[in-house]
Amino acid sequence: MRTRSLAVCGAATVLIAAVALPAPPPAAAAGLPYQDPSRPVAERVSDLLGRMTLDDKIGQMTQAERASVTASDLTTYRLGSLLSGGGSAPAQNNAAGWADMYDGFQRGALATPLQIPMIYGIDAVHGDNNVLGSTIFPHNIGLGASRDPALAQQIGRATAEEVTGAGLDWTFAPCLCVARNDRWGRTYESFGEKPEIPTAMTTIVTGFQGTTLGGPASVLATAKHYIGDGGTTNGTDQGDTQISESELRAIHLPPFQAAVQRGVGSVMISFSSWNSVKSHGNKYLITDLLKGELGFTGFVVSDWAGIDQLDGQKGFTQAEVVQSINAGLDMIMVPNDWKTFLGYVRTAVQAGQIPMSRIDDANRRILTKKFELGLFEHPYADRSYAGTIGSAAHRTLARQAVRESQVLLKNDDNVLPLARNGGKLFVAGKNADDIGNQSGGWTLSWQGASGNTVPGTTVLQGIRAAAGSGTTVTYQRDGVGIDSSYRAAIAVVGETPYAEGQGDRPGSMGLDSTDLATLNRLHAAGVPVIVVLVSGRPLDIAAELPDWSGLLAAWLPGSEGAGVADVLFGDYAPTGKLPMTWMQSATEEPINDGDGKAALFPYGYGLTYAGGTDPSPSPTPTPTPTPTTPTTAGPDGCRVAWTTSDWNTGFTGNVTVTNTGTATLNPWSLQWTFTAGQTVTQGWSARVTQSGTTVTATGESWSPSLAPGASTVFGFNANRGTDNPRPSSFRLNGTPCESS
Ligand code: BGC
Ligand code: BGC
Repeated sequence: MRTRSLAVCGAATVLIAAVALPAPPPAAAAGLPYQDPSRPVAERVSDLLGRMTLDDKIGQMTQAERASVTASDLTTYRLGSLLSGGGSAPAQNNAAGWADMYDGFQRGALATPLQIPMIYGIDAVHGDNNVLGSTIFPHNIGLGASRDPALAQQIGRATAEEVTGAGLDWTFAPCLCVARNDRWGRTYESFGEKPEIPTAMTTIVTGFQGTTLGGPASVLATAKHYIGDGGTTNGTDQGDTQISESELRAIHLPPFQAAVQRGVGSVMISFSSWNSVKSHGNKYLITDLLKGELGFTGFVVSDWAGIDQLDGQKGFTQAEVVQSINAGLDMIMVPNDWKTFLGYVRTAVQAGQIPMSRIDDANRRILTKKFELGLFEHPYADRSYAGTIGSAAHRTLARQAVRESQVLLKNDDNVLPLARNGGKLFVAGKNADDIGNQSGGWTLSWQGASGNTVPGTTVLQGIRAAAGSGTTVTYQRDGVGIDSSYRAAIAVVGETPYAEGQGDRPGSMGLDSTDLATLNRLHAAGVPVIVVLVSGRPLDIAAELPDWSGLLAAWLPGSEGAGVADVLFGDYAPTGKLPMTWMQSATEEPINDGDGKAALFPYGYGLTYAGGTDPSPSPTPTPTPTPTTPTTAGPDGCRVAWTTSDWNTGFTGNVTVTNTGTATLNPWSLQWTFTAGQTVTQGWSARVTQSGTTVTATGESWSPSLAPGASTVFGFNANRGTDNPRPSSFRLNGTPCESS
């Protein structure tokens, strides 16, 4: 909830700001039904919609970049939303600078006759990464390695607090991309190459938004990029995902289904195409599948100038505007050319090319989220969360995330963990003492940058702090000066920052010449070499691997490098598992689990210290729930709602199960029988397994129980023959349920 702001009490507008804000203009319309927070949101939306002019409505659908507008533009043009592109920050890049900027723009929005607040979106993709001083969490690929959805949820919550602390209300996260080709520059934005990991990690949506929109530090989340962004054949953002519909549904849809079930407020469309049709203009995918079949009630936002790409020509035309809005886009991200856009929409509506019903639907969706977020009651920055930005508690959480995201890939002669005391350690590599490199792209700037860009701890600082006083730690970036007197060398090497297309790697995916030279120097000294690989994806390292005694995949850990040292010195025994298949050679790309190609390390691989190795791939994202006290008796009541949407060879099931009894079920377990040969291929938001004709769904490890009165929603995909009859009965922990 946003506080310290403008409250409308009956007919009067009262300023209760604790910080001095210039008074907004008098409320021309105070006391109207839409301004009454005691009325249901749907009623408020209808009332407001009835008062809006066409210009008010098209303004709501427009999102401009902060640098291309003034506060008075928001008033004049009725703009409904602003964004910060990557690194687009106010001159004073701290909490107060952001909040002041936000409030300035908001005053412009509230100076319109209907006083509709704007909403401000930002890419808080690994922490509130545009705001200097914020906690920088590991990029998604590392969180995928942790296989810890509860951790992802906590990170979402911490990030939402920091976003709120900077005055903002909307993040363009999470990326629910299923990265199928590691050549793609956004591979690190993906939680994993199989849908099960991104699906499980949609807990981060609940972290961002809180249990309800409008609650404490609730930030609107965005599931992106819908759909198939990680599946393009050439591994680029604007490429084509050439797969059948059942494959699209099996691989790329489940994370979005799970996010919709969690109530994600917005969905961003992908720059990519599906079988040669740009998603930004694909009515079937946006209107029929997402809004219709999946039942998404939030609003759809386009990606950065995404409508420009529909006809393959630079810029956008009225025809592209018409096609994309009619396809189902509700808010259009037109960073700079928003005036042209407003003109085209107005003309198109007046010419009957876009029906008024479509404009009203888009407005309803956007306004509903603004009301639910509490923006009408609390339009200004909530400065009470400013102290959470980069707080000790959040850095501790980030360090835990770093620990859990490390994947130990090689550990000859148990070279790790390192003894804390005795002898000398040599640390080298371009990523050892470079917080910019270890944070990657989308850190303070769009592309990120090498160097001392953000506050935090480098890997080297972490190593120095962890080594005991009896150990000498020598650092030389390039490995110069090492000799055989060291007990081990730690080489922190890998990639340097990039974002989006700049990270596409159509050619070599190996280490650069700087790293190879450093590694050669270390190897020549004859001491064990432990490589810590800082990278946004698996790299082509098979040729060098034999020279290394140890290999730790650190991904892009962010601002808390001490978490890497925690693993090196055994304060935390590694638990991370590969979220991506590791290639033998770049020529194998794309390589994914189950495609029969020979991997250097398979999906799910990861060693630990205790018994030496734990080489078994773990295909499921989370450990089996440990039941506390299994309930023997069933509930004294339960209810199941069952719907399916079918296509030629398969179907998606959506199930809501409610415990209408009086006892908590821990764990809960729902069973039914398939009578027509249907076979479950995957589940989300529950573990759905099949044995013969019996299907069992149980809660995930982070949500195993079902309290009296509580419902849980889960989904699954299945193959089917010619028929798909509905199961005749459902049993919850053995008790037959009512069903609808
Ligand atoms: C990216 C999105 C991002 C947007 C706003 C686009 O280029 O594809 O992921 O949210 O820019 O910065
Ligand atoms: C912006 C990014 C955006 C990108 C799209 C950049 O200038 O800063 O946010 O994603 O352009 O190309």
